[in-house]
Amino acid sequence: MENTQIAISSFGGPETLVMQSTEIPTPQTGEVLVKVAFASVNPIDVKTRAGLGWAAEQNKDQLPWVPGYDISGKIEALGEQAQRFVVGDNVAGFIGFPLQAGGYSQYVCVPESELSLVSDAITLEAAAALPLAGQTAAQALSNAELKEGERVLILAGAGGAGHLAVQFALATKAEVYTTCSEANLDYLATLGAHAINYNFEPVSQRLNQVDVLIDLVGGDAALDALKCLSDNARVVTVPTNTAEMICEKAQMLGFSATGMLVDPQPEQLDTMLYMVSVGLLKVEIFNIFPMNQVVDAHKQIETGHTRGKVLLDMQS
Ligand SMILES: NC(=O)c1ccc[n+]([C@@H]2O[C@H](COP(=O)([O-])OP(=O)(O)OC[C@H]3O[C@@H](n4cnc5c(N)ncnc54)[C@H](OP(=O)(O)O)[C@@H]3O)[C@@H](O)[C@H]2O)c1
Repeated sequence: MENTQIAISSFGGPETLVMQSTEIPTPQTGEVLVKVAFASVNPIDVKTRAGLGWAAEQNKDQLPWVPGYDISGKIEALGEQAQRFVVGDNVAGFIGFPLQAGGYSQYVCVPESELSLVSDAITLEAAAALPLAGQTAAQALSNAELKEGERVLILAGAGGAGHLAVQFALATKAEVYTTCSEANLDYLATLGAHAINYNFEPVSQRLNQVDVLIDLVGGDAALDALKCLSDNARVVTVPTNTAEMICEKAQMLGFSATGMLVDPQPEQLDTMLYMVSVGLLKVEIFNIFPMNQVVDAHKQIETGHTRGKVLLDMQS
């Protein structure tokens, strides 16, 4: 049997993603072999493929590179001393972050410590969608120390990280405002947020007295959103390319501001999987592409207008 992977051997457009065949790897001590059902596509996969950002800089001499940080699937084999799971368990994880990745594979070996058990109450699709985006959302809100009753503005509430951030903020009993285009107004209102159409007028014309800004857009949208903040507001800006500029501007205006790099924490994924299993968290899946349509999956993320998450079906 072969292991088909999606790899890049040079940085560039979506067409640089090609199928390659390798042997199915053997799990080393403390590792398990996962037969991957679904891998999710994140903006960092797309940026790194294009040669942009820190992960691309670090990996430039180590191509080919197999993208993919989010996987769900089934345990196929156990390495020595791997004892958390048994063969046949369903698992999900945020793997090989930030440099190694490797999730766009039909089979991948992963340290068992990077994985969470997926119960029968959760689909493997939802489980693959959660790790990177969900932990980004949870960690951004926790870095901002959002509290009950506070007013939070989440830029890009309809996106992969955003739709989960909106739900976590609502669970904190905060007053949640979010920006989106017209197509997502109803969706976000149904989740329970006050949705503001950023195409109609800048959010700063519509909102004030915001205690916490969670910026998932960066650039000019974030600079405009700073005008909505109350004294002593806190800002967490998530896109890394504009974080320094936005933090500087926010701090000049007297706010506390920080960028972030998401940190894989399997226990946090355990909690999110539990929330999904009991109906406290809803995962929005925009589309599931067969693995041989990965180029289209990357083009979809590049539109910048994906609602929820895009997945790759790694066994189709
Ligand atoms: N630092 C880290 O550790 C880290 C981790 C994860 C993600 N990120 C970064 O965070 C950003 C968000 O990630 P993601 O996975 O959520 O991306 P995503 O799923 O691709 O976001 C797409 C969403 O962005 C919305 N959007 C686009 N332009 C907008 C604007 N001007 N104002 C408001 N919403 C807008 C779109 O909504 P409409 O269609 O309604 O416009 C769409 O739903 C990306 O830049 C990503 O690279 C950083």
